[in-house]
Amino acid sequence: MSNPLLIECLAPLLPIPENEIDALLEYPPNDELGDVALPCFVLAKTMKQSPALIARQLAAQLDHPGFRAEAVGPYLNFKLNRPAFAEDLLLRSAASDDFWRPNAGGGKRVIIDMSSPNIAKPFGIGHLRSTMIGNAIYRILRETGHDTVNVNHLGDWGTQFGKMIVAYLKWGNPEAMAASDNITKEYLALYVKFHEEAERHPELEAEAREWFRKLEGGDAQATELWREMIGESLKQFGKLYDRLGVTFDHVLGESFYNDKMEAVVESLRGQGLLEESDGAMVVRLDESGMPPCLLVKSDGTSIYATRDLATALYRRNQMNGELLLYVVGGEQALHFQQVFRVLEKMDASWQDRCRHIPFGLMMMEGQKMSTRRGKVLFLEDVLNEAVQQAKRVIEAKNPTLADKEAVAEAVGIGAVVFGDLKNTRTLDVDFSLKDVLNFDGETGPYLQYTYARTSSILRKAGVASDDADASDAADFDFALADNEYAWSLLKLIARYPLRLRQAAERCEPSVLARYLLELAQAFNRFYHHVKVLDGSAAEQSFKLSLVRASADALRKGLTLLGLRALEEL
Ligand code: ARG
Repeated sequence: MSNPLLIECLAPLLPIPENEIDALLEYPPNDELGDVALPCFVLAKTMKQSPALIARQLAAQLDHPGFRAEAVGPYLNFKLNRPAFAEDLLLRSAASDDFWRPNAGGGKRVIIDMSSPNIAKPFGIGHLRSTMIGNAIYRILRETGHDTVNVNHLGDWGTQFGKMIVAYLKWGNPEAMAASDNITKEYLALYVKFHEEAERHPELEAEAREWFRKLEGGDAQATELWREMIGESLKQFGKLYDRLGVTFDHVLGESFYNDKMEAVVESLRGQGLLEESDGAMVVRLDESGMPPCLLVKSDGTSIYATRDLATALYRRNQMNGELLLYVVGGEQALHFQQVFRVLEKMDASWQDRCRHIPFGLMMMEGQKMSTRRGKVLFLEDVLNEAVQQAKRVIEAKNPTLADKEAVAEAVGIGAVVFGDLKNTRTLDVDFSLKDVLNFDGETGPYLQYTYARTSSILRKAGVASDDADASDAADFDFALADNEYAWSLLKLIARYPLRLRQAAERCEPSVLARYLLELAQAFNRFYHHVKVLDGSAAEQSFKLSLVRASADALRKGLTLLGLRALEEL
């Protein structure tokens, strides 16, 4: 709750629940009219009165020493008793984690499909976005009281394995592959070579189909080669996940569902939902204005959508998922609409149980990528370059810093991650290392640097940043809350739980990311205008508790987004 006192007083007077009141409250940037405002437009409909009348009536009914309420047109404006507000906020946020972890989920089990790269192909930018956005959503949902489970739905099945086996047997060089520092590069080279050669020798396609048939039939050599590709790719992906700080509760590839698809197809058939169309089997979705969902190809093989149906059933029935999220690029929107619609046709209780969480495309330094043509920027190379550049900046800024390697790793990677997450996820991103590494811009390094500054102040004052015991309020001079810089900062800290809940509800990490930028900017303004370690003991205690709350918000927020909060930078 960003303002528990106001909400407590307003709740009995309004026909909407507390969390909706919380979301309605506005914090005008210019304090002249008041510190907080309640716009009454939305209330007019339910309360069947004009917004202005509602505002006037509320103003007359509210009477509390902690604030003054005044109606100005359709707005109810509040002037807060700033010292009282500060005391309440600082003591509450220091005393318990309840303030920082608003329960919005009620323990609901949410299964999050994220990352899901394809075996024997490079880890693409789309997979990077899915990994980082998915990881932030996973952490944010857990923090807000959801029972989260994340799954890496590896693309480990499909006709491309026929092609890869052909290419590997014809042109693969096992020694060179064993010596490679990034096996997915070797796989990509083979994949590209296959497509080049197949243009001149179309019979290769038939050979590839034959190998995939063998794999489906359990042929020993095909299976061994397939397993090897999975093992080697996972080793490579694992290095990336480690660097990004990403873990999975389950790694279950598409092949895991091979023996579970027939049951789905049978039950669709039993329900009379399956129809023949040019030799293939489909579920018609005309009534939803969608093309039919193809489930069994004319040669009898299943496809991506069939596997996703079996996967959804497994996640709901075996993993007890109440809500299934799919963090996958926007280009797959139709696929998911079709799959979700087919599920609903099978059983109406699927309604509202699945959500596609799409994201836009990412261009790296103005380059678009295509796996087929081998035009790929390897994520590992991007991370390495980011770390190198971060290291140069750190050398220049703080030559005596301990453990520069580790710090550069955290800053370089944090820059890439934050450079992605600060954008509304559905937008396309044009990514440039120079921008995301700018220590003075709206970047990960800027936030990490600000956090390190809060830590250094607390260190100097002898206060631990995660010191749990709340100090005695009697020793604090809360009157300083009237200082404009302190006040701006206080108001922002108070908004942390609301922003976190909004990020969770919308599955939108950028809400939290942009909030942290605002908070860091307010903190830096405070830091430049107000000397913290100055004045009476009671004044310093107050200012330090404000620094500590800022540090807590930054550290928690950074961690939720998958960045490391560094004590020194
Ligand atoms: N491996 C797929 C791809 O790269 C993404 C899988 C997404 N998850 C799913 N359940 N379909 O396009």
